[in-house]
Amino acid sequence: MSTGFALHGFGESPEVALDDVPVRGTLPEWLTGSLIRNGPGTFQVGERRYRHWFDGLAMLHRFTIRGGRVSYANRFLETESYRIAREEGRIAYPEFATDPCRSMFARAMAVFEPQATDSAKVNIARVADHYLALAETPIQVEFDPETLRTVGVTGWDTSDFGRMTTVHPHLDEERHEAINLVTRYGAVSNYVFRRVDTTEAGLLHGDTFASRAVREPSYIHSFGMSERHLVIVEFPLVVNPISLLLWLRPYIENFRWKPGRGTRIHVFDRASGAHVRSVTADPFFAFHHVNAYDDEDGSVVVDLVAYDDASVIESFYLHRLSEPDVQIPPGTLRRLRVPLSGPHGRLHAEEISPTGIELPSIDYSRLNTSPHLRYVYGISVRSDRGFYDQLVKIDIETRTTVVWHEAECYPGEGVFVGRPERVAEDDGVLLSVVLDAVRGTSFLLVLDAATFAEIARAELPHPVLMGYHGQFYDDLLASDRPGQVLPAHGS
Ligand code: CO
Repeated sequence: MSTGFALHGFGESPEVALDDVPVRGTLPEWLTGSLIRNGPGTFQVGERRYRHWFDGLAMLHRFTIRGGRVSYANRFLETESYRIAREEGRIAYPEFATDPCRSMFARAMAVFEPQATDSAKVNIARVADHYLALAETPIQVEFDPETLRTVGVTGWDTSDFGRMTTVHPHLDEERHEAINLVTRYGAVSNYVFRRVDTTEAGLLHGDTFASRAVREPSYIHSFGMSERHLVIVEFPLVVNPISLLLWLRPYIENFRWKPGRGTRIHVFDRASGAHVRSVTADPFFAFHHVNAYDDEDGSVVVDLVAYDDASVIESFYLHRLSEPDVQIPPGTLRRLRVPLSGPHGRLHAEEISPTGIELPSIDYSRLNTSPHLRYVYGISVRSDRGFYDQLVKIDIETRTTVVWHEAECYPGEGVFVGRPERVAEDDGVLLSVVLDAVRGTSFLLVLDAATFAEIARAELPHPVLMGYHGQFYDDLLASDRPGQVLPAHGS
């Protein structure tokens, strides 16, 4: 069976609110809260189809678990992109790998008035009690976590245009700060760290506290943070900013793989923002950092899911994913040890496990920046062909892997939720929204995070397109409401 259907074999999901989703199995008593997931709600706009898995119109999903029961709601993010798609049936803004149809004149004008998509579909963050849908453009969209209605647009760095950011800000609850990396494109481009005080009401009005000039910026999807350092891993997938200004092709297609540059690692002091050191490693590419920590030997250790090159981006074009024998290059968990002083040669990332893994997740609230992190969860391709069809758990200590798999089922990101009184790191559950390709529906899978045995599943009556990232909030509970179906947008 073709695996591309996992992304676009179905029509778009209807907007619904379901008070009681049927549950098979028994949910743990302690498991209370909401999983908010983000991802594409449709790849079709009028007669046009988006081109790439990272395109599409944003849709939010909320699964609320309480008292052994599950409620669910979903809703398109009500942005300009969405409004124009619905009312005019056209793609209005450039996405990751899809551009609007524009005349040469319109393209030329875009140089003077560049427009960024507001279809923030990649991740979720809660900053200063505001819930945000995150995109790689500087535009972030606030939403009501209960109704999923759109509140308005905000941003990490919207002082002017010509910049991109990551959808993986680091949040430090003890220090009440959120940190993100912004790339500013120009004659001289800059990597800039922005820091937000999360106790402040002034949402996302942070300060710039570290920066580094760069001639050809790299495509960077996330960054590393240890107790004392911030780490930019600059892959040799780079762009001439002029090419972005002219915008003759979709965003990501302006980037070029230049392995001769190697992968450059820039370390900054987290407190002062001062540049500490830059070193070079063998060329590789990654979307996701997993963890970073300061080691006793004076180095910063950086774990990430790495690929030998950036061809994984090309494998996510929808026409490629539709091919029956689609091959997605497997990313693997690799470790970089960056010495902060003394002489060093060219660095090499050590492979921790040969198991393919993507959308890595950890017990972030307890173990981000910790040298003791042991378990990394993620999705993986079971054989060398096909789409992500299993969940994996890699043990960094024993370097072994545990797997969950079910025929014709395609799990999304695994989100770890720890039992509140846990001692063991993996005492908790892993939540994943799984597409069942035989039934044409999706379910919320609840695994015992320790054994990977299924505890329960909540079965939706419709499919959910393969999305990207979500977050679980144990204090977010939707109020009880009578059964209802949300009215379709605009009706
Ligand atoms: Co990501």
